[in-house]
Amino acid sequence: MEEQNTNVAAAALKALADLQSEIEETVLDNSQALDDYRIRFLSRKQGQITALLKRIPEVAPEDRKGFGQQINAAKSRVESRIEEADELLSGASGSGSAPSDLTLPGRSFPQGSLHPITQAQRLITRVFENYGFEVAEGPEIEDDWHNFSALNFPPDHPARDMQDTFFIEESDEEDGGILLRTHTSPVQIRVMEEKEPPIRVIVPGRVYRNEAISYKSYCLFHQVEGLYVDEGVTMADLKQILHAFAKTLFGEDVKMRFRPSFFPFTEPSAEVDIWWKDENLPGGGRWMEILGCGMVDPNVLEGVGIDSERYTGYAFGMGVERIAMLRYGIDDIRILYENDVRFLEQFS
Ligand code: DAH
Repeated sequence: MEEQNTNVAAAALKALADLQSEIEETVLDNSQALDDYRIRFLSRKQGQITALLKRIPEVAPEDRKGFGQQINAAKSRVESRIEEADELLSGASGSGSAPSDLTLPGRSFPQGSLHPITQAQRLITRVFENYGFEVAEGPEIEDDWHNFSALNFPPDHPARDMQDTFFIEESDEEDGGILLRTHTSPVQIRVMEEKEPPIRVIVPGRVYRNEAISYKSYCLFHQVEGLYVDEGVTMADLKQILHAFAKTLFGEDVKMRFRPSFFPFTEPSAEVDIWWKDENLPGGGRWMEILGCGMVDPNVLEGVGIDSERYTGYAFGMGVERIAMLRYGIDDIRILYENDVRFLEQFS
């Protein structure tokens, strides 16, 4: 008799354990499954919770309280699973929001854009690539020789002064210093040291100058350098290509002029201005300088072992910020370096 009671009690406990695992394992991924689940466990008449409650007398008297508590816990678990599944299936977040409307237009995500300097630099580079120029690059940390001496700057040229150049290492020896390049022209030297003519390269890059910061100058900026060395290259070729370039950037009816100038590494040298129309100015506009250029000085060619009797070349260098400011109507260079999203967003 004693043993029989123990068996009956064990069966009831087993039934509780089975019920608990069924409650956990049943998959509730559609509303039919959810309804079946609700009826199977919670129905007053035929539900399994009710059925188990009826078996409390089978359990040993001292265990009945615990048994009953576990059944109640199982019932709460069923209820909370139903609630969770209900929320998931109806697509609501639980905060009472309406189910999603699949006909609503999609959300748009914020999209980045290239910085106006990058856009201008790529545009300039692309124009010359179309004329058959190859892209070359050089180091931003440069030596005195490539930045100055090889470009025919005399040893006492004022540009070597601390006022203009950020030196990394100063040196008493001639050409011994290390510096942040002040222009992209040293890459002309690096390319000519490596290659035989014909040479036709375009060099986009960043340059540094120790200048007072203002609306028109910053301590770093970007240049694009061009170099063409071959037999029979003339100043007429230079004028032709720069005119074609200006038309692409500023329109067919662009007005430009070549103004004599001086650079140590070109002879003759010129600066190119374009006419910037502005009705508010007296005279209806003004000339704006966009680049320096000239015929490569024979001293420079000889310095890198190119026969200056046989070969001639032209070179030019332009400020990217200057051109971006003209194209986009920006009147202060500093805004290009502030990374204010309200400004940058206008260039997407
Ligand atoms: N390197 C000059 C500068 O930084 C610009 C320049 C002038 C480059 C004449 C050239 C050139 O290649 O031929 O102001």
